[in-house]
Amino acid sequence: MASCHDTIVILDFGSQYTQLIARRIRETRVHSVILPVSASLHMIREHRPKGIILSGGPASVTSVGRPRWAKEILQEDVPILGICYGMQLVAHYMGGKVGQAKRREFGRAELQILDGSDLFKGLEKKGAFSVWMSHGDWIEKLPTGFIPIARTENSPIAAMKSANHQHRFFCLQFHPEVAHTVHGKHILKNFVQGICGAKATWTMGSFLKNSIADIRHQVGRDKVICGLSGGVDSMVAAAMTHRAIGKQLTCVFIDNGVMRKDEVKQLRKVFGSQHFQYRMVDASARFLKALGRTSDPEKKRKIIGRQFIEVFDHEAKKIGKVRYLVQGTLYPDVIESVSQIGPSATIKTHHNVGGLPAKMKLKLIEPLRELFKDEVRGLGKELGLPDDLVLRHPFPGPGLAIRVLGAVTPERLAILRDADVIFIDALQTHGLYRKTWQAFAVLLPIRTVGVMGDRRTYEHVIGLRAVTSVDGMTADWAQLPHEFLGKVSNRIINEVKGVNRVVYDISSKPPSTIEWE
Ligand code: XMP
Repeated sequence: MASCHDTIVILDFGSQYTQLIARRIRETRVHSVILPVSASLHMIREHRPKGIILSGGPASVTSVGRPRWAKEILQEDVPILGICYGMQLVAHYMGGKVGQAKRREFGRAELQILDGSDLFKGLEKKGAFSVWMSHGDWIEKLPTGFIPIARTENSPIAAMKSANHQHRFFCLQFHPEVAHTVHGKHILKNFVQGICGAKATWTMGSFLKNSIADIRHQVGRDKVICGLSGGVDSMVAAAMTHRAIGKQLTCVFIDNGVMRKDEVKQLRKVFGSQHFQYRMVDASARFLKALGRTSDPEKKRKIIGRQFIEVFDHEAKKIGKVRYLVQGTLYPDVIESVSQIGPSATIKTHHNVGGLPAKMKLKLIEPLRELFKDEVRGLGKELGLPDDLVLRHPFPGPGLAIRVLGAVTPERLAILRDADVIFIDALQTHGLYRKTWQAFAVLLPIRTVGVMGDRRTYEHVIGLRAVTSVDGMTADWAQLPHEFLGKVSNRIINEVKGVNRVVYDISSKPPSTIEWE
């Protein structure tokens, strides 16, 4: 179905970065759609693309196992940008030769521009700049009519174009979509706006309008349920759905007993300020009983997941026949589980309310599944949600259960809550909260010796974690001022009974993760 915007089609060959290409194009305010590698020529044509991007992918054009695709698009009169594997496909099918690179390139390389027209317009005078490479194959022989337009030390053909303008092929061996490629966004903008002539009409407002129309169309007159976690994703998904279908939506918040200090009280206020119908269910006793003295984090996650499904199912039955479940799944959640569109490799299984749709025979509505966290925040602002909510740090579905390491008892939860609120309040007071992507306290499953008022103590240890990140997929520890950390540590040890030591986590992700579990 063609959109009212000029559209760029991205054909997904399974790269981890395909959504990042879409995101960069959104940043230039141009509309794009991602189609699976299996899309037919007819499907691609239906979008009336102003340009087509062939993504990277794990396959090699030199091996037999490469995915089948509608290679006839190479004959269409539309500009094509091949990225990495996409470049090799163009070279292969246009009569060039692809082979194994003498030296594989992974990571940073310095790009030197040989032709500053079209794709590199505006960059020709910048000198060499860093680009991100990730390839084992390269172009051994250019297809007839193609010329190299950039090189790196290891790749004499790091970019190429067809000199024959009728075809308008542009290809990059490196990834312009990743943040490490210095002028990547500029290059993509040159392609979509300059070469393809696509108009910059896409905004969060237009995304919202289209998504609302899609939800309305999908749902018809059926009833819809949405689980609110208190975080920005489910709230934005609920507010959007409410705009689409009003009273057909009921939201449910379940207090699982592992929320932060006073959080349920604050959420009651936030939900009350919204227009959707909602229920708040206090199931804390039941969750804590089920957790018992379980200390294994994966088991804790499973117990919480199971309890959630039972309580949610029970609440849903009170609403009547519900057909749809709204979830605030984001793109990083999808890519860390499995690529839904192309054949990219599975990294890890992420779960929030896994199992719920199947048990309740519900169909999913996931209006945020192609967005990144900061884009969802933009959408929240567009929806008029309060800043406090929109700019809140992420909070994991299993809550404090994975931040109390070891058994989750009411006493240990109370210690963690008191320490955590001191840390978060201090970050806010010192203007550091919004400078960190996520910050929290964890309670360690050990005791250490201390001395308080001439007496030996043997008490709990609190770990403080604060990270900077763009999407949670990678993160660095936040370099908070030492003086600030000292003050927080003092306050925690003085004010939280049972704690005699505070430590600060200085590990990045990878190799560590953000949560301790
Ligand atoms: P890790 O610890 O894997 O976490 O580096 C990355 C981000 O995901 C959050 N997280 C979760 N969020 N349900 C969620 O909604 C979960 O089960 C879950 N586990 C981790 C974590 O807080 C961090 O922001």
